[in-house]
Amino acid sequence: MHEDTARKRLIGPDDAQGPERLVDPADSLEDEVYGASLRPRSFADYVGQERVVENLRIAIAAASKRGEPLDHILFFGPPGLGKTTLAGLIAREMGANFRPTSGPTLEKPKDLVGILTSLEDGDVLFIDEIHRLGRVVEEFLYPAMEDYQIDFVVDRGAYAKTLKLPLKRFTLVGATTRAGMLTAPLRERFGIVHHLDYYAVEELERIVTRSACVLNVPIDADGAHTIAARSRGTPRIANRLLRRVRDFAEVRAEGRIDASVADEALRREGVDDRGLDRLDRAFLRTIVEQYGGGPVGMGAIAATLTEDAETLEDVVEPYLLKHGFVVRTASGRKATPVAYRHLGAHSDAPEQGRLW
Ligand SMILES: Nc1ncnc2c1ncn2[C@@H]1O[C@H](COP(=O)(O)OP(=O)(O)OP(=O)(O)O)[C@@H](O)[C@H]1O
Ligand SMILES: [Mg+2]
Repeated sequence: MHEDTARKRLIGPDDAQGPERLVDPADSLEDEVYGASLRPRSFADYVGQERVVENLRIAIAAASKRGEPLDHILFFGPPGLGKTTLAGLIAREMGANFRPTSGPTLEKPKDLVGILTSLEDGDVLFIDEIHRLGRVVEEFLYPAMEDYQIDFVVDRGAYAKTLKLPLKRFTLVGATTRAGMLTAPLRERFGIVHHLDYYAVEELERIVTRSACVLNVPIDADGAHTIAARSRGTPRIANRLLRRVRDFAEVRAEGRIDASVADEALRREGVDDRGLDRLDRAFLRTIVEQYGGGPVGMGAIAATLTEDAETLEDVVEPYLLKHGFVVRTASGRKATPVAYRHLGAHSDAPEQGRLW
């Protein structure tokens, strides 16, 4: 097969709005469009992360009782696990406004001044990707977080003086996928810090069932399980897979989703029973078939796959490492017996043809 064609098939049908890979945890335009309707609207709808939700509920109740603002909160964890959703729920629960923004859009302190000065008591200012705030903006945020005031310098040179502008007592909710990239002074200014972890299959089943209900698609328990088990512990992926299965079910199964409909729909998309897609399997197959199981350097794997090494390291390898399909050694990546067994059971040949 010609390489370009192979690549197109690998990343799925051309769909400018959808993600490149169905199992990509990052947000896509398509997710945004559906996200609004599938987003939980109350803590009761928010599945899983029980310890985090419980702690938040206590903190919210205590703050309301004392008539004080809620402590600043930091959420960290992989993409698609519900950080933005939780931030919105906190505002709702506090009966306050939700003011979302993100690190990369706040380039200069002046980008923040307008937002900060317009906040009312108790409002939730949500800064997504907070690890991407510039240093100057970050330092400008410190007194806002600590003393609910901002300092700015007027005039220049000998006449320069610092003015202090008081702010309303707001709550900053920060979210990051990279806690390690946060500076210590910023991290220390958050009173509440929570790590969101991957969801259990049983929790994802509940999310899929709820989303199917919102989308008005009949689904049975086995159908929900089939989708949940392939969602890589990530609600965003679960919802996305559900939408693909729904499309298939509408055309082939009068709209009803059961295990066999879900299985067939996802198999056609190249997503197997562990949630691996063609790129994951091509990655494993390269190590096993081209390099005798490894160890092999990422550069060599990337060259064989004509992929970018950094992309593979960021978007393919983490899931395979976490689930024991590969291990990293000093001399490179090695495929594990889990990978061999999986490839044995999931050949992309012969009906798909060898992709690489
Ligand atoms: N606990 C949950 N219960 C039900 N649905 C959830 C839950 N968490 C997330 N979702 C669903 O997953 C989607 C993605 O969640 P969200 O956008 O909050 O993730 P995120 O952690 O902010 O991701 P990113 O790091 O990419 O910003 C939401 O639109 C929502 O439909
Ligand atoms: Mg988010």
